[in-house]
Amino acid sequence: SGSSSEEKRAKLYMVEGVPMMTNRYVYNEKIRNYKAKADDVLVATYPKAGTTWIIEIVDCILSGGVTEKIKSQPSGSRAPFIELGQSPYSPSGVDMLDTMLSPRLVKTHLPVKLVSPSFWDNNCRIIYVARNAKDVLVSYYFFHKMNFRMPEPGSWEEFFESFLSGKVAWGSWFDHVTNWWDIRERHRVLFIFYEDLVQDTMREVERVVHFLGQTLERTTLDEIVKHTAFSNMKDNPMTNFAPLTWCIQEISPFMRKGKVGDWKNHFTVAQNERFEEEYRRRMAKTSLRFTDDF
Ligand code: A3P
Repeated sequence: SGSSSEEKRAKLYMVEGVPMMTNRYVYNEKIRNYKAKADDVLVATYPKAGTTWIIEIVDCILSGGVTEKIKSQPSGSRAPFIELGQSPYSPSGVDMLDTMLSPRLVKTHLPVKLVSPSFWDNNCRIIYVARNAKDVLVSYYFFHKMNFRMPEPGSWEEFFESFLSGKVAWGSWFDHVTNWWDIRERHRVLFIFYEDLVQDTMREVERVVHFLGQTLERTTLDEIVKHTAFSNMKDNPMTNFAPLTWCIQEISPFMRKGKVGDWKNHFTVAQNERFEEEYRRRMAKTSLRFTDDF
């Protein structure tokens, strides 16, 4: 579907105060009017929070284990991205979902206020994964560099400022995580931390199993944890984005590090001070805490 050189880097434009992109990742009436079914499972994240990882876990659980389907179909076709726009080469996310059998797994990065009302109206199960801001910033920077559908990130220093001021695709990390945190008890939301997934994958997998109302054998759970380990997902073309021609893995692999605390290798002391000052200000009113909060 076109090489990286044919991809035009996106520009940002505002949708209800949220920066969205002008190219393949869209927000439109089709997304707003999406008709959810009661057994749709929505995976919602801010970009780079571990979306691909939790989708793999959830799909294995819904499928009852690491099935042929999971081994042979790319993540993007098993869990359509609802914000993916139509192109001459592929259907939109909503069109893909319309042809899918239930239970459907839906991927989104949308902030609470842009989520299709139908998900709330149908009391759908929603799994939100949150990851600490500093690691997200680093991961998002490298993702912009390697994915030619994303806006031009500029220098590390420039991207750092864009992220802090929320002038990046899908908007402010602060607004995203705190708004999802605020609604978690009013709706059917399972709130998961990337840091917990890294620290004890089995415990978090069991939380998801319980949330989805499933029961799985111990051996199946072990299989799922193994299948979704970083090294396996990095080697797996169904999950590592390698087949996507607009993602240049030589610039930075999609499965980059998969660690907590990589920000320490990238933030200068001055950037860290500036970041923490802004963080304290923006997070003053929320009870949301991350494991490496200062
Ligand atoms: P890094 O860039 O820090 O390595 P998303 O899927 O939301 O785009 O998130 C991608 C991030 O999740 C990347 O972070 C990627 O390496 C990490 N990731 C993906 N699968 C993982 C796994 N199985 N275990 C740990 N981290 C994983």
